[in-house]
Amino acid sequence: MKDKDVIIALDFHSRNEVFDFLGRLGTLRPYVKVGMELFYSEGARLVAELKERGHKVFLDLKLHDIPTTVSRSMNVISRMGADMVNLHAAGGSAMMKAALEGLVRPDGTRPLLVAVTVLTSTDAAALKNELLVGKSVAETVETYAANAAACGLDGVVCSPLEAENIHAKLGMDFLTVTPGIRFEGADAQDQKRIATPESAARLGSDFIVVGRPITCADRPDEAYLACRKAFLEAANN
Ligand code: C5P
Repeated sequence: MKDKDVIIALDFHSRNEVFDFLGRLGTLRPYVKVGMELFYSEGARLVAELKERGHKVFLDLKLHDIPTTVSRSMNVISRMGADMVNLHAAGGSAMMKAALEGLVRPDGTRPLLVAVTVLTSTDAAALKNELLVGKSVAETVETYAANAAACGLDGVVCSPLEAENIHAKLGMDFLTVTPGIRFEGADAQDQKRIATPESAARLGSDFIVVGRPITCADRPDEAYLACRKAFLEAANN
C-alpha cells in the first residue's frame, strides 16, 4: 500500500507564525509543506526544526535551472532532511535526471521528487501566446507528466481532477500530489478547480495539500483530524 497523507501548507511568513499555528495542533505532527515565502524568510534552520519536532516536510521550491545547478542545489536540499521536493518539468529531461542524481544521500536514501507540470495560473492563452507552446493545457500536462515519469521522478503536483487521468496513463505507482482541496460547502476562495478530501481520494490523489481550510479554522486540530480521516477512509475503500 502506497503512503497516502494530508500535507498542511504552512503559508506563513515567519517562524513565530508557524510555531503559533503548530502549537494549536497539540501533540499532532502532520506532514507540512514549506514554500518559497517561508523558506526565503526563515531558511534551512526552520526545515531542521520541523524535522526535529517530528514532522515530515515537503519543500516546495519548484527548481528550474541548468542541470548542474539543479543537481547541486538538490544535493543541499536533500541534506536538509526534506521528505519531498519538487521542480518544474518545463526544465526538461536532462534537468530532471540531474535533480534525481543530486538528491541521493550518502546512505542511498533520497526525498521523493515530484514535478510541477503547467502552473494552474497559466491559462491556454498564456501557454500559446507567451510560452509559445502550441498544444492544449491538458496535452501539455500529460506530456510533461510522462516526461517526469520517464526520467524516474516519483510523481507530479496536479489538480485532483487530473489525478485519475494521470494514474490511468502512467500507473498507480506514479504519485499525484494535489492542492485545491476544500471541505464540503466551503468557500473556494481563489482556487478554481476544487475537490473535497473524499473526492480527491476517490480520484486517486496520493497526497492532498491543504492550506487555509486547516490553517484558518477555529480549531485547526479538529479540522486536520477530520480531513485526514475523511481522506484516508475514502482512499482505503
Ligand atoms: O490555502 P489553500 O488550501 O488554497 O493552499 C493550497 C496550497 O497549495 C498553497 O500553498 C498553494 O500555493 C499551493 N498550490 C496550489 N495550486 C497549485 C500549486 C500549489 O494551490 N497548482
